[in-house]
Amino acid sequence: MIDTEESRYPVFPLTVFWRSTAVFIGLQTLEKVVQETCGAEKRKAFVEGDDFMFANRTVVVTGGAQGIGKGIALAFAREKGRVVIADLNQEAGSALEREMKDQGLEAFFVRTDVREEADVIRLMERAAEKYGRIDVLINNAGISVFKPFFELTLEEWDNVLNTNLRSAFLCTREAAKYMKKEGGAVINIASTRAFMSEANTESYSASKGGIIALTHAMAASLSPYRIRVNAVSPGWIHTGDEGELREIDHKQHWSGRVGRPEDIARACLFLADGRNDFITGQNLIVDGGMTRKMIYAE
Ligand SMILES: NC(=O)c1ccc[n+]([C@@H]2O[C@H](COP(=O)([O-])OP(=O)(O)OC[C@H]3O[C@@H](n4cnc5c(N)ncnc54)[C@H](O)[C@@H]3O)[C@@H](O)[C@H]2O)c1
Repeated sequence: MIDTEESRYPVFPLTVFWRSTAVFIGLQTLEKVVQETCGAEKRKAFVEGDDFMFANRTVVVTGGAQGIGKGIALAFAREKGRVVIADLNQEAGSALEREMKDQGLEAFFVRTDVREEADVIRLMERAAEKYGRIDVLINNAGISVFKPFFELTLEEWDNVLNTNLRSAFLCTREAAKYMKKEGGAVINIASTRAFMSEANTESYSASKGGIIALTHAMAASLSPYRIRVNAVSPGWIHTGDEGELREIDHKQHWSGRVGRPEDIARACLFLADGRNDFITGQNLIVDGGMTRKMIYAE
């Protein structure tokens, strides 16, 4: 028999019909299994907005007592994270712990000097003792010394590097010991000064440039433990009263405004979110466009 289009045609739709039916039934069963095993209720709650990103998760924020760190601490706590505020400033740290508890948020202040190994070991021990686990670490503590190049002393250089850079290694090493079992996320707060400069900023710029390199090195070393390491580089983030700012301060940004701590906090929430586990070793610049803006004198 000659295999014409006419002779083949009637068989074709039947095959397609049976195959499609089998695929359809298979998909229905698969969806049911997925719904039962993967918590359809939880997904529904998330869509409806009554779920929280960091419920039952422990989040350690260094330098969390004020400024950007305070913004980060509040943002994670509002997502039901159990926030450990690690800061040198006893008064500001205790005040923030009280303020957060008054708002019904979970907070635990541990006075910590991130330059000191014993302090950092104790910080992670206390966080794990209190909450049973550590899930997120935000290495935010930082200082700056802007001083004429020829006047910057080695003590000042070491102090900036130890506070900003060495601490990120130290805190991550100690926190990762607790994260190893279940995985986690580390976010290092760098700066756009890692990539561009004004004069007399050597120690600060070097510490922030170091953080970018440290971020991808630690991302590599900690990947077998499902610990992701990323950096956020803020531009100008005003942590005081907005009324202090001039119109030109805002206008020079492509965003039309100077940054706020919440801008950095939202970037941290995004990077710490386990659903974004395809992102590691990266740096996210949050600067209202300033590092992309070309500036020549007119
Ligand atoms: N504000 C900005 O425009 C800006 C821009 C880029 C990067 N950053 C970075 O963001 C981070 C926060 O900056 P900020 O503007 O909120 O500063 P901030 O001075 O307001 O807050 C820094 C916090 O770190 C704490 N701290 C300092 N030394 C410490 C130590 N040895 N141990 C523990 N805690 C210590 C301080 O007590 C303070 O609470 C820093 O790493 C900074 O370099 C800030």
